[in-house]
Parts: sequence; structure tokens; C-alpha cells
Amino acid sequence: MSQISVLFVCLGNICRSPTAHGVFQCMVDTNGFDGSISVDSAGTGDWHIGRSPDQRTAAVAKTKGYDLSELRARLVTGDDFAQFDYVIAMDKANLSDLKAMCPDNYTGHLGLFLDFTEQQAQREVPDPYYGGDNGFELVFNLVEEASCGLLKHIQAEHSLKPTFQGRPESRSS
Ligand code: 4NP
Repeated sequence: MSQISVLFVCLGNICRSPTAHGVFQCMVDTNGFDGSISVDSAGTGDWHIGRSPDQRTAAVAKTKGYDLSELRARLVTGDDFAQFDYVIAMDKANLSDLKAMCPDNYTGHLGLFLDFTEQQAQREVPDPYYGGDNGFELVFNLVEEASCGLLKHIQAEHSLKPTFQGRPESRSS
């Protein structure tokens, strides 16, 4: 079976989408789906191409046990729609930019990340860049909840069964 591919997109690709990339990748690995689901992230803006995640983002992720240090920002392109089955936007502005570059014949899923959460209060992962530190904590919590929902959705849609429960570093083989 070819891999199911997921791309998370925000504006700068240094705060929200790398958080989603790291958290969702960890859930994929933990459930033994690393051979069947691939994960990436990108930004609609080009200011931070090649940079590591924002220090505030990396610090919050680290306190929760996630290492984002290998990730580097890149720009989303029209070609990504040929590569990714799920293109997931953090906010409505990201979604609108993505819709403008999405080919008419795209058959994958293009939508908002928080559509995969049960809570209805918040539809967008808010941009934390110019805000205070608690914005980064909020991003993390929303991302964790939506990652769970997205993984459940993909599992159901593609009849994937988890093969491993637990943190990848505790794998015995
Ligand atoms: P992100 O946050 O889209 O979650 O990566 C931002 C990062 C940088 C900027 C805006 C948002 N910026 O304007 O440079």
C-alpha cells in the first residue's frame, strides 16, 4: 500500500505547523503507523525558509516531551497537492491561500485542522507569533487534540489498525 501523506500548513512554518508536524509524527510512530503515514509541514509565507522552529514553540514542545529541532521551515507550493493526501490548514487565511493554489482536480482533503476536534468553540489554531507565551501553550493543546482526531479519522477512512502502543523509544524491536 502506498503511504498516506499529511501536510500541515501555517503562515511562517515556525510555530503552529511544526508543532503539528512533531506531535502528529509522534502519534503516528507510537501507534506503529510510521510505515503507512508520512508527515510534513510548510508555510504560505517565505520569511523563515530554512529556519528551525521558533524558540518559544520549541520550548513548549520540549516541556511536553517533543523534540522539534530537526524541522526546518519551507514554503508550500502547488506541487504539494500532487504529493499529499491531506493538506491541513491552521487558520482560515492559510486555507484561503491554499485554495487559491489548489488544482481543480485535487482529490485529497483540504481543510481546517480544528475540524478534527470535538470542541466547537474554536475553529482556528490562532497565530501565536506576536502574542504572549500562553499563546504557544494554547497552540500546543489545540494541536494535540486535533492530532488525535485526525489520526482517528485517517485510521477509520483507511482501515488502519494500530500495531504498537507506547513511546517509540521503548520499542523492543
Ligand atoms: P506560524 O506563526 O504561522 O504559526 O509559523 C508565524 C510565524 C512568523 C510570522 C507569522 C506567524 N511572521 O510574520 O514572521
